[in-house]
Amino acid sequence: MADEVKATNITWHHADVVRADREKQNGHKAVVLWFTGLSGSGKSTLAHAVENALFDRGCRTYVLDGDNIRHGLNKNLGFSPADREENIRRIGEVSKLFCDAGVIALTAFISPYRADRDKAREISADSFIEIYVKCALDVCEQRDPKGLYVKARAGLIPEFTGISAPYEEPENAELVIDTGVDSLEESAAKVLAYLEGRGVFLSA
Ligand code: ADX
Repeated sequence: MADEVKATNITWHHADVVRADREKQNGHKAVVLWFTGLSGSGKSTLAHAVENALFDRGCRTYVLDGDNIRHGLNKNLGFSPADREENIRRIGEVSKLFCDAGVIALTAFISPYRADRDKAREISADSFIEIYVKCALDVCEQRDPKGLYVKARAGLIPEFTGISAPYEEPENAELVIDTGVDSLEESAAKVLAYLEGRGVFLSA
């Protein structure tokens, strides 16, 4: 379904202001920081901590968060493999648009399937930075910030990632952050250092 092309007779309109112009004006490159990991691993918390640090440096940023996006743009999607694929496909496309707009997009989705993450990577190519927010299942389960693991164990939530649905660990993530080991400050600092090393921040 996702690959079906229904629209015909459409042409691409080229903008006069292009991404490079926006990046120059913003003083930084646009990238997608793709946080992936189990529910409760700390994806959203880390994405927001990184956003805070980037914002303080004067960067243009936006966090796309699974739970929030599922209230709006993706509210017609559930948690079957096909729905998760479509969820991630849309976010892959949306984060590319953010990049074109010169913004650092931070996405916080479980995105459990390697193939779906790889498609998102293809869409944004060199701008895509995969960050595996690693945390052992039993630690996520102990944290259980939304009380969902208890419900999933009780059989009340079907297809729950880590319990009754798979999570495929990244094999080539640009960064692996172990939130069971590093503090939030240390984790955010690692992401910032990586961005620094990658030349995301442009000198005036
Ligand atoms: S994804 O797998 O399609 O990437 P996404 O990140 O958008 O998932 O949404 C995950 C969030 O939805 C979880 O943090 C949790 O709060 C909630 N949720 C509800 N049902 C499930 C489920 N069956 N599996 C995982 N998360 C679920």
